[in-house]
Amino acid sequence: MAFMILVFAVLLLQIHHSHSLTCSSQKLTGNRVYDNCNDLPHLSSYLHWSYDSSKSSLKIAFLAPPAKSDGWISWAINPTKPGMIGSQALIAYNVDGNMTVKTFDLNSYKQIVPSKIAYEVSDMEAEYSGGTMTIFATIALPANTTTINQVWQVGGIVVNGIPIAHAMLPDNLNSKGTLDLTVKGNNNNTSSTSSTSSPSPQPHNGGDSTHGKINGITIFLIFACFWHLFVC
Ligand SMILES: *[C@@H]1O[C@H](CO)[C@@H](O)[C@H](O)[C@H]1NC(C)=O
Ligand SMILES: *[C@@H]1O[C@H](CO)[C@@H](O)[C@H](O)[C@H]1NC(C)=O
Ligand SMILES: *[C@@H]1O[C@H](CO)[C@@H](O)[C@H](O)[C@H]1NC(C)=O
Ligand SMILES: *[C@@H]1O[C@H](CO)[C@@H](O)[C@H](O)[C@H]1NC(C)=O
Repeated sequence: MAFMILVFAVLLLQIHHSHSLTCSSQKLTGNRVYDNCNDLPHLSSYLHWSYDSSKSSLKIAFLAPPAKSDGWISWAINPTKPGMIGSQALIAYNVDGNMTVKTFDLNSYKQIVPSKIAYEVSDMEAEYSGGTMTIFATIALPANTTTINQVWQVGGIVVNGIPIAHAMLPDNLNSKGTLDLTVKGNNNNTSSTSSTSSPSPQPHNGGDSTHGKINGITIFLIFACFWHLFVC
């Protein structure tokens, strides 16, 4: 019996693992295709993007699991510095039964309200499916933009149509970085700007760390299995 449970647990973890896709294998609805994608280093998030440098037009799809099913996800550009304060955010959440994207000028940590932001944003659309929310949008950047400060976030609470503060765990506080719009292809090389000054030896890869953890658990369970069989 215990053996069966362990085998089941191992299978479950393997199935779970096959779901932790990296961006290059993700299929987006409506057959949307982007030139580039990044496995963002925190919050199991992914950014797909195409940049038309002649028009400074950035088309994105941002995918992340909200902290709770009735929560929210956010992707933002900070025009002045890496970090949340001052960022120009797109936030997706459920408004009266419909997934919606709204724009927010995040100039404080206090209560926020939807507002116009520093960029023209078009084609905004949100989805929630299989535990993942997606924000689709096209953003008009200032002419000749080559890099942007991106900030992303997830939260679990929406009150009266307003997303409420997110957790303050390291993953939440470090979910920001520079996006180099001149680097083409599928890459996960977002230089993550950490709020601490501790050295960051390698670009983090959410996919890889999940992989490592799951392999560790799997190996442990397999050993536990054999050990149990042997004893029995
Ligand atoms: C939600 O979507 C339905 C169907 O498209 C629409 O009839 C309804 O007005 C929408 N509700 C809000 C609050 O936008
Ligand atoms: C953008 O770059 C082009 C070509 O280098 C230049 O002619 C133009 O003045 C630049 N625009 C701005 C706003 O810097
Ligand atoms: C992310 O980086 C790792 C290690 O550098 C690499 O093995 C992996 O294929 C990359 N993922 C994508 C989607 O490019
Ligand atoms: C990641 O980006 C930095 C800065 O653009 C570059 O120096 C480095 O070579 C890149 N690393 C990889 C693995 O692409």
